[in-house]
Amino acid sequence: MFDRLHSILPLRVRNQLDAYGEMLGLMREIKDPRVLKALGPSGLRGLLLKRGKQGEPTKFQASHRAYFDWTYPSDHPEMRDLYDRAKEGQWNGATDLDWKTSVDPLNPEVPLLPADWFNFDHLREMGVRLNKAEEQKLLHSICAWMLSQFLHGEQGALMAAAQVTEAVQFFDGKFYGATQVVDEGRHVEVFHRYLDTKLNKLYQINDNLFVIIDALMEDSRWDMKFLGMQIMVEGLALGAFGTLYQMTSEPLLKHLLKMVILDEARHVHYGVLALREHITTELTESERREREDWSFEVALLMRNRFMAYEVYEEWFEGSISRAQWREFVSVAPGMERFRHVMFSRLVPNLREIGLLSDRVRSRYDEVGLMKYFDGVAADEISGEQMIASLDAGARSGTAVSADSARQAAVTAA
Ligand SMILES: [Fe+2]
Ligand SMILES: [Fe+2]
Repeated sequence: MFDRLHSILPLRVRNQLDAYGEMLGLMREIKDPRVLKALGPSGLRGLLLKRGKQGEPTKFQASHRAYFDWTYPSDHPEMRDLYDRAKEGQWNGATDLDWKTSVDPLNPEVPLLPADWFNFDHLREMGVRLNKAEEQKLLHSICAWMLSQFLHGEQGALMAAAQVTEAVQFFDGKFYGATQVVDEGRHVEVFHRYLDTKLNKLYQINDNLFVIIDALMEDSRWDMKFLGMQIMVEGLALGAFGTLYQMTSEPLLKHLLKMVILDEARHVHYGVLALREHITTELTESERREREDWSFEVALLMRNRFMAYEVYEEWFEGSISRAQWREFVSVAPGMERFRHVMFSRLVPNLREIGLLSDRVRSRYDEVGLMKYFDGVAADEISGEQMIASLDAGARSGTAVSADSARQAAVTAA
């Protein structure tokens, strides 16, 4: 009965119901009331009010405490070491990349993304026929969409890195954090320049990404900002950058991603260092559980909900339903590869900082993420080793696996 009623509704109404259904589904799947309290208001602002898409600046109310120490202690040698490496690893986004490279996003000889990123037969089964040039154009759109989300995520990282530098209690962490702020500023610079001058396209922020950034900006607890930005967003971004690095044939984009990956590997490493001790020794068991539940929900949010609806609205609204688009995107070979690499980076880091106890493993297992449990955490692999394993994976035609990353780490050590 409901299905019949549903099928006679206009597509626009069905799509609206689908969007509300997704939002309610998100709220319903959150089991821990504290997590709901932390994410709920951000969910309303992002998903319902679509605050990121109003065409005006967003002002978040930060509420953390800035932590000063007038004795300037040497309190964390590993962070100090990361700081030294970060100073050595600085690069100039304006001069170290060859911006004179001419980029034609529609040139099939130098594709931004491989043609098998999408399964276009799947789209034909839904009644949408694209010719070769249109397929190429859709790949250009999806690439611009991903890079736009990277850019918005980088703006989030810039602000979060600045907040965390204020809030953190390790003095060596503040030194390190100062370099991360510079890194993130540079990432915003290069992604924006690439989109603006090479792809000539910029998509608005995805609502789910807005929810995560909103939640991090307003949470007063420094470790939640760390967990959200340094572990979850950066960990996933690192996986996403790695997949795109492996798959693109466009030389400027490849070089840009390589440089960003080298920086990001340090950022995630810092997140693991700062949180490992804090979570295992300073939090109560109840506080640790809250963070464990929070990271599971955010992992799901990222796994299930980055569906490029902004591309759907531009291309297919009116021809296929939002639900059909979701089905097409979620099984696209490129997206599956993306998810694989992202979670092979993220899950070991969660394990390493003590947020994958027996209590939640069955939940990770249910959604197919436990297979990444034994992978290499960020403190065991440098950016250079990561690039080496991505190159090795690209040569053998496979996505980077935990094993190949470990092998690269062992070889390079
Ligand atoms: Fe970044
Ligand atoms: Fe970063």
